[in-house]
Amino acid sequence: MNKMFGIGIVGAGDILYYHASSLGALRDKARFIGLADLNKISLGKASNRYFVPYTFTDYQNLLKRDDIDVIIVATPPATHEQIVIDALSAGKHVICEKPMAHTLESADRIIEAGNKYQGKLSFCYQFRFMPEIRRIIWLRDNGFLGNMIFGNFLRITLKGSTGNWWGQWNTAGGGVVITQFIHQLDMIIQIFGNPVSVFAEMDTLQQDIESEDTFGATIKFENGAIVGCGATLNAHRVAEKFDVIGERASVHLPWAVCSNDRRHMRKLIKAMNQEKSIAEFHKQGSISSIVKKIKNEFVGDGIPAKVMRTVLPKLGIQIQIGEPPLHKSLIAAFLDAVRNNFEVPVSAEEARKSLELCTAIYTSAITGEIVSLPLAKSTPFYKGINADVYRNRKTNRTSR
Ligand SMILES: NC(=O)c1ccc[n+]([C@@H]2O[C@H](COP(=O)([O-])OP(=O)(O)OC[C@H]3O[C@@H](n4cnc5c(N)ncnc54)[C@H](O)[C@@H]3O)[C@@H](O)[C@H]2O)c1
Repeated sequence: MNKMFGIGIVGAGDILYYHASSLGALRDKARFIGLADLNKISLGKASNRYFVPYTFTDYQNLLKRDDIDVIIVATPPATHEQIVIDALSAGKHVICEKPMAHTLESADRIIEAGNKYQGKLSFCYQFRFMPEIRRIIWLRDNGFLGNMIFGNFLRITLKGSTGNWWGQWNTAGGGVVITQFIHQLDMIIQIFGNPVSVFAEMDTLQQDIESEDTFGATIKFENGAIVGCGATLNAHRVAEKFDVIGERASVHLPWAVCSNDRRHMRKLIKAMNQEKSIAEFHKQGSISSIVKKIKNEFVGDGIPAKVMRTVLPKLGIQIQIGEPPLHKSLIAAFLDAVRNNFEVPVSAEEARKSLELCTAIYTSAITGEIVSLPLAKSTPFYKGINADVYRNRKTNRTSR
């Protein structure tokens, strides 16, 4: 019989729903045994909602329990390092929320601990499990896209959590880039490989936060590909879009696959139809299937911001795009990795890559210069950025 994993979660905030509902769907593999949060009110509400047997205000008590094998860290970014290291040193396996940490320095200490202790360690870049991303990787690896040439990634969104850490340099590590677009940075690296240089601009145009609410960047990759990307928290409708252009074919979100070469396109469609495992991904609840649940008048190439806030919860749909089935896929893959001693879905080294690219974007937007990657430990913002550095950045031309 397969081992039933005991799970403990640290953090009873907004993201808890995605973990708790994923664990509910994985009830044949895992049991949500304990929850810790500093805030007694959040803890009480969450334990009632999810029927959690044991709750603690000090996460150390969660770590002491022998019936807990895996700890999920769902607290603000600057707290990840301490909790991950404590959990690993207590002999637990760990899944930690993104971003890996609020600075590269903190991320490197997490990597060190990951190498020192036995427990497996992975990070929540669940968008990798999007059917569209899995299919792109499959198309690329089977030669259907040819050499990668160009990409364009856009995320127009709203401020995420209501937590007071949001948008603060010392607790979140920044704003829209590190807290939201880091998912897209992870996807971009998955698709295009290692970035070699970045040029970026950022500003706080409307939100009452310390860090950036809007950015745009151009990234160059080892193979010569160029990717343009950007995000804002000031959207009036929430949407994520991308275009990935290869030499032989292109892929797009909202989903489309195109090629100028009709013979190649016919071969490509035939191969996709034969690839059952890829077809299966589409049954997991892709963006399009979630959007279909919403009444027709709301369906377009994005979800109006007001609908995200008001209508969706009334319809019983609690989503951010791509979730929660994606958290479920990541947790299931992690438990399989622990059970069979496989590689984890997103290793610490992989999670560091998107944080490094994020730091390069910040460095360019602060200095006004093109920044080369990889970043050395002597890079100016290895230990993080503060409000003064941000305010006095070379590219600060806002007159607001
Ligand atoms: N993967 C995703 O798509 C996704 C989406 C949203 C948030 N997140 C990430 O999840 C994490 C939490 O985000 P959130 O939106 O739930 O934040 P939140 O502010 O809603 O909740 C954080 C909770 O952590 C608790 N906490 C803080 N320090 C603690 C400590 N030392 N011990 C115990 N509890 C502590 C707080 O009391 C709070 O209840 C962040 O890293 C965020 O980036 C990931």
